[in-house]
Amino acid sequence: MAPPRLPLTKAVIPAAGLGTRFLPASKAIPKEMLPLVDKPAIQWVLEEADAAGLSQRAVITAQGKDAMRDHFAPAPALDAALEAKGDSVRLEALSQLASLGEPTWIVQDHARGLGHAIGCAESFVDGEPFAVLLGDDLLDPHNPMLPAMAAVRARVGGTVLLLLEVPDSMTHLYGVVETAPAPADLGDDPHLAGLEIHRITRLQEKPAPGEAMSNLAVIGRYVLDPAVFDVLRSTAPGRGGEIQITDAIHTLASMDASEGGGVHGIVFRGSRYDTGDKLEYLKAVVQLAAKDPRLGSDFSAWLREFEPGAGHRP
Ligand code: G1P
Repeated sequence: MAPPRLPLTKAVIPAAGLGTRFLPASKAIPKEMLPLVDKPAIQWVLEEADAAGLSQRAVITAQGKDAMRDHFAPAPALDAALEAKGDSVRLEALSQLASLGEPTWIVQDHARGLGHAIGCAESFVDGEPFAVLLGDDLLDPHNPMLPAMAAVRARVGGTVLLLLEVPDSMTHLYGVVETAPAPADLGDDPHLAGLEIHRITRLQEKPAPGEAMSNLAVIGRYVLDPAVFDVLRSTAPGRGGEIQITDAIHTLASMDASEGGGVHGIVFRGSRYDTGDKLEYLKAVVQLAAKDPRLGSDFSAWLREFEPGAGHRP
């Protein structure tokens, strides 16, 4: 018999990486704390989890990244100073942040890979299905995908991935999947209308150029069955000598549904940015600024006229 389909309330947010691609900016400031318009990347990700109803959230962190904790901790002196000035706009921004609450912090002692980082959340997850949101993957907040992923999980159980079609030249940067047709009976859940959904039969972590099984790459949102923890324990170090979540999901793909196995994926057609990469980070800032309710119209007007090297225009 298949295990019961518990609702999804838990989110695990791995944010323990060194952020070397962003040095020197990320030397003293965690890369997840770099601002996208007026909020750090990690706040955007926690807001996405909150909006999807994932009310229990854990961030996997590492030593030297205390700025993330400080960001979510109460700051009564700052609140009092803003109140004294009557600065209601900033107070509102801080109260929005405070309404997220403080996540559970889990420290990963050694950088042993994404699979190991997720494994650190086993007691927080406590046997329930859970979502994973990678701390430096930003999805367009106007196009949330976690509700659709949860809907697939509710239908077919197991693990659900988010997939992005990437060019051949980029498959070596991602986990890549092999697909088969999804079951026809995914039902008529409105969250799934118009989406391309596949069953996933095999995965490869960062295949060498020319060796990718497809152009469908795994991006930073996962709904995982708790069976993944047992699988991670017996997953040998893979690419880069690290414990890879992709390798554990590859094992889940060949396991029976009664053991928590089975993997499906939804193809994402919206905007997604790897904010740990400088070019992608800049694109994310531009996209979010153009859609910002306060800045958007002025910024977009300026952008339309912008010519690099043309000197200063007000
Ligand atoms: C990680 C995963 C990879 C996935 C990617 C998505 O890689 O290992 O499978 O495709 O996230 O962003 P990283 O970007 O941490 O090297």
